[in-house]
Amino acid sequence: MKIMAFVGSPRKHSNTDLLIDEVIEGAKSKTEVEVEKIYLYDADIKYCTACGKHTILEGKKPCPIKDDMEGILQRMEKADGFIFGSPNHGRTISAPMTNFIARMMPLLNMQVTLGEKGEIKNAWVDSKLKGKKVVMVISQGDPWPSSSALVMKILDDNFRDFQMRKVGEVFSMSNLRIGQVKDKKADLDVAFSMGVRLASV
Ligand SMILES: Cc1cc2nc3c(=O)[nH]c(=O)nc-3n(C[C@H](O)[C@H](O)[C@H](O)COP(=O)(O)O)c2cc1C
Repeated sequence: MKIMAFVGSPRKHSNTDLLIDEVIEGAKSKTEVEVEKIYLYDADIKYCTACGKHTILEGKKPCPIKDDMEGILQRMEKADGFIFGSPNHGRTISAPMTNFIARMMPLLNMQVTLGEKGEIKNAWVDSKLKGKKVVMVISQGDPWPSSSALVMKILDDNFRDFQMRKVGEVFSMSNLRIGQVKDKKADLDVAFSMGVRLASV
């Protein structure tokens, strides 16, 4: 099984990263797993410029930006499962995670039917990630869950748009300090079990 994990925190080996590692361990406990972990803050992933080249409006051309994303998208098409991990930054996903999702848009293939005057009568989307499994990992500082309501909704809605199959989520609170989650056995256990599910359901 090929898993790609995207770390949306600038802090390596901190809470988001540690929880992602635990998901990976859970998956490994179930089956043979090939893992590619990508630190979004380190990767060369330039901002989406909204050129629209990949869209039907511009003839579905390749994304013109030359950086790591071309290879990442190709490997995503071949992967079986994904882990998207983000800290809560200002009640939303981290900035590189936002841009990463924007840069994933070429994986959506928009189709339209046109009317007699060229007007769009109907529009729908095929996704190259259709049916692929995904686990969401979120870490936040506040001790109450509502702080991450938007974080979860943004990831959930995007998983749905990309027609991925969400296996489950790992959500850990009160993690202001670096790596604080390593002492939270219950949260690590949830992460491990999500990895088991990622490799099985
Ligand atoms: C810029 C910034 C904004 C943050 N905003 C929030 C917030 O709105 N709510 C919250 O609960 N935690 C917030 N936090 C705390 C982080 O979500 C928390 O420390 C998280 O565990 C960090 O994950 P990491 O250790 O993987 O980087 C913020 C942290 C930063 C750096």
